[in-house]
Amino acid sequence: MNLSNKQEAKPAADWLQSVRWNSADNWLDLLDQRLLPADIVYLELTTSEQVWEAIKQLAVRGAPAIGITAAYGVYLGVRGVSGSLEELLDEAVKQCDYLATSRPTAVNLFWALERMKQRATGLAAAGGEPEAMKLALLDEAKLIQSEDEETCRLIGEHALALFEDGMGVLTHCNAGGLATARYGTALAPMYLAQERGIHLKVYADETRPVLQGARLTAFELQQAGVDVTLICDNMAGVVMSKGWVQAVIVGTDRVAANGDVANKIGTYSVAVLAKAHGIPFYVACPMSTIDLNTASGDDIPIEERHEDEITQGFGKRTAPIGVKVFNPAFDITPNEYVTAIITEKGIIRAPYPENLKQLFL
Ligand code: MRU
Repeated sequence: MNLSNKQEAKPAADWLQSVRWNSADNWLDLLDQRLLPADIVYLELTTSEQVWEAIKQLAVRGAPAIGITAAYGVYLGVRGVSGSLEELLDEAVKQCDYLATSRPTAVNLFWALERMKQRATGLAAAGGEPEAMKLALLDEAKLIQSEDEETCRLIGEHALALFEDGMGVLTHCNAGGLATARYGTALAPMYLAQERGIHLKVYADETRPVLQGARLTAFELQQAGVDVTLICDNMAGVVMSKGWVQAVIVGTDRVAANGDVANKIGTYSVAVLAKAHGIPFYVACPMSTIDLNTASGDDIPIEERHEDEITQGFGKRTAPIGVKVFNPAFDITPNEYVTAIITEKGIIRAPYPENLKQLFL
């Protein structure tokens, strides 16, 4: 699959937007997160196959960002189709089902594609011109993106209420602006704190094996002038034991109905460490990450990725050829480790089964 169609670009704003619809050229500009922090390169995606590949290969990653990207992918997949409204609807459904196979864990992907399907179904039922339906699908993708920006800002407002000036805050993986439309989920309070002159000292786990913490979180916080210190994953315990961390905040790929949380591999270990040190463990996410149809963490599909990420990550062999490898991309943090879940609607605490359900009423 050709993902080599690249364009050197400078960020259009004071932050790096991971997903940008390019209306002048009518294609999707996607920041290639695999190359960060060394190179800022936007891929120019014109087909849904390229979108599928970009999600699979982690050129775009982070639960909300892959949902947004897939939504644009649906438009790219149908825009060349000629035929009736019904044929267009059939193709839109096919494209949604296809894009849903790119990654299994983040429910935002399925949420965004379901929303695109519903929109296509509604448009087909209402009648009209096929060309208008295509443009309406593009508008829906843009709306998913703009709503995510507002959602993340609200998450940041709620989360910031839990933090005080001078606190040390540890995070794992990247749940920042790069993983969303803007601000991020777990990193949103750090950006709002920065805007308001509140000083937070952030510890970023490097996040083996793909280093989202080192390459992305440390990068985007440093760019914004936030006080960030990079640590290896196995240093979280020592940093906590020294009393440097007053809160942990992470993002999530899916929250089950009972409050179990799937997030980047290593999150569970951080949660256990936080509990051992009496440090609150917060999870920040949009409502679209909460999946009431999944009963518990046991039911969340966990992606396993290629062994090369561990044995020869970034091109250098660091393990013997032929060694057995286990490489799950995510783990489950049981709900008893979660102090609170912060959404755009506010802060939710245990009992999670009741309180999560309440959120959707
Ligand atoms: O494999 P990734 O990089 O897509 O994993 C990302 C995470 O685990 C994030 O913490 C999660 O998607 C939340 S992003 C706001």
